[in-house]
Amino acid sequence: MNYREEIIKLKKEKNALILAHYYQVDEIQDIADYVGDSLGLSQKAAEADVDMIVFAGVHFMAETAKILNPNTKVVLPDLEAGCSLADSCPYDDFVAFKAQYPDHIVISYINTSAAIKTVSDVICTSGNAVQIVNSFPKDQKIIFAPDRNLGGYVNRVTGRNMVLWEGACEVHDILTTEAIFKLKDEHPKAKIIAHPECQATILEAADFVGSTTGLLKFTKNDDAQEYIVATESGILHQMYLDSPEKKFHVVPSDDTCSCNDCPYMKLNTMEKLYLALKNEKPSVSLEPEIIELARKPIERMLELSKKLKLI
Ligand code: 13P
Ligand code: SF4
Repeated sequence: MNYREEIIKLKKEKNALILAHYYQVDEIQDIADYVGDSLGLSQKAAEADVDMIVFAGVHFMAETAKILNPNTKVVLPDLEAGCSLADSCPYDDFVAFKAQYPDHIVISYINTSAAIKTVSDVICTSGNAVQIVNSFPKDQKIIFAPDRNLGGYVNRVTGRNMVLWEGACEVHDILTTEAIFKLKDEHPKAKIIAHPECQATILEAADFVGSTTGLLKFTKNDDAQEYIVATESGILHQMYLDSPEKKFHVVPSDDTCSCNDCPYMKLNTMEKLYLALKNEKPSVSLEPEIIELARKPIERMLELSKKLKLI
């Protein structure tokens, strides 16, 4: 079957919108109506005026789309596409942790379950974390969850001392400076760029740190010709499309390949995308009370991001 043709046909018939994250396989990125980072995808989901959103990403992203657009059916190609970072912050444990800091507000990374969002004051993404934190007074006490690497990075950039939940992304946390410096030896002119979910030693060695959209824009506008990219391999597709004359080397997660794939993002395939669109399932469903409570901190993030001209 020609999945591409079938998907285009069904998308029209069903008045559907396909949203895809940069870590999706190339063919899914190529067929999507919009490809972006978590911030851009949330904004698109909030604004969507369609009968169905097909979210080619991971579960927390589809859940966020449902929270922001509760009257629209949201389906995802594979319900098992989770996120190690979101899973590193179970609701009961987090509520007990939060209770130890009654005078702190909670800023949660968007890579969390809807349940965690219901007990958060504001959400952030890697594209706006520094600005969201800086929108609060310097003496505001803050818990940041769940990514200790992103939280540590924001602490260093903003000069804060936020209390950090000890979570990490298995795809970024595994990358090493040894692997980066090996690539740098082989490609001495290459600039090092990194996603803030990487460990502090990597972020300190990087020439630029940013969200996936931030990294993509940097490579497009910067005048270097070669980059060492410390994030998931999928982003290279748009980097090559935007800058075909440049070279990109993804930091490998181990010695077995020259790639670094998120096993959850890569569960999605063109076949599963086609089936999700055709069968209108699996779909995201959430209790109305959860939607109502989780929507407030996400909308607060979107409002702040608009005010700060980040979207
Ligand atoms: P971005 O919002 O930067 O795309 O990050 C999402 C993510 O899951 C990174 O691992
Ligand atoms: Fe989650 Fe990490 Fe995969 Fe992003 S790359 S979806 S943070 S496991």
